[in-house]
Amino acid sequence: MVGNIFLALALSFSSVAAPKVSPWLERQAPFALEKILFHSAQPGAPEGSVIASPSRENPDYYFHWVRDAALVMDPLVSLYIDGKRELLPRLLAYAEFSRANQKARALTGLGEPKFHVDGTPFDGPWGRPQNDGPALRAVTLTRLAEKLLAEGKRSLVIEKFYDGSNHSPIKTDLEYISHYWREASFDLWEEVLGDHFYTRMVQRRALRLGARLARKLGDPGAADWYEKQSLEIERSLEKFWDPKLGYVKATLHHRGGLDYKTQNLDVAVILGALHGGMGDGFFDVNDLRVQKTLTRLLEEFSALYPINRQRGTPGIAIGRYPEDKYAGSDFNGGNPWVLATLAVAEMYYRLGLAAMGDEFVARVIFHANGDGSLAEQMQRNTGYMCSAENLTWNYAAILTTARARSAR
Ligand code: NOJ
Ligand code: NOJ
Repeated sequence: MVGNIFLALALSFSSVAAPKVSPWLERQAPFALEKILFHSAQPGAPEGSVIASPSRENPDYYFHWVRDAALVMDPLVSLYIDGKRELLPRLLAYAEFSRANQKARALTGLGEPKFHVDGTPFDGPWGRPQNDGPALRAVTLTRLAEKLLAEGKRSLVIEKFYDGSNHSPIKTDLEYISHYWREASFDLWEEVLGDHFYTRMVQRRALRLGARLARKLGDPGAADWYEKQSLEIERSLEKFWDPKLGYVKATLHHRGGLDYKTQNLDVAVILGALHGGMGDGFFDVNDLRVQKTLTRLLEEFSALYPINRQRGTPGIAIGRYPEDKYAGSDFNGGNPWVLATLAVAEMYYRLGLAAMGDEFVARVIFHANGDGSLAEQMQRNTGYMCSAENLTWNYAAILTTARARSAR
């Protein structure tokens, strides 16, 4: 059920957005798929290595990030499940590249956040480990493995995805998650060391999906252990809800990294509900605690960014968190992000509130480049696209948002 404040906000939009959203998404979805396919088969890099963006300076995103790659391959798994069979070789290549990442001698092992496109670990200074990565990777690979099992390809699944020993990509990640989820890591924005709502949400989902797969593949001891750990993660997640503040906090037990996120209010909570929610009401889009967090984010960002105070623009441009300063090449910014704005659209669509979702997609359309390409951020004063061009994750967000809209 949708709370009252939530509806009040909904009513403050006049729904003028709808007419252009459908045709735009119809053009944009195949464009997004094309970009993803191009970014995951770069000249000189093994197939399945996914660049976060073609941008090589200011900022340099020409790397395979474990998080981004998993989030980008996941909608391709959905398309494969729908019958786009030609995607299988690319998905298998991603699985193989992921296996190589796991075996590489990286500074923080499985928690390593990013690799050079040829698969060698990036050894420069960075916020590491980032423990959402292995969980997102396991979710994407497990969804694919489940589909292959349903197609009767059991031996392929055992060979390439999950065997009872620790020599397959999914089990390797599940073992890491189930043994180390309590340890502090850097958040999805790579800035804060601590315990994060987003990370725990995707870890819980990885373990639950993984347990089901392990059971099907005759590994019940592992399945029991993953389930048990997922329940403990669940208990730990309850602590992120702050009834006094009225929102879900992004991080507990701050141990290092940026120290200016004073409100602890972050769109990462919405992304956690989208990427980690399991449709059981536990911190998914239907959970009132998540909805209240969304309401707070909308209030905050609508007042914060100059481009949100202009009249006549649809929706609200959404950033990562109010105190953000990161502008791609420096820390003099703090801008709305495309993937954050689309996350709000996707949440509304999943709640069946299509007119609201359309407002936020229309807002992205308003700032998009003429050729449909989408950079990481929208400049807070001018609205122009800025920071990393053609951010691959944005194209994944287009696909998941369009899917949520058509399922509404
Ligand atoms: C790049 C990005 O991950 C951004 O979120 C972060 O603020 C900077 N690196 C600095 O860690
Ligand atoms: C910075 C973002 O904060 C982080 O989430 C992302 O993984 C990297 N950029 C690469 O896109």
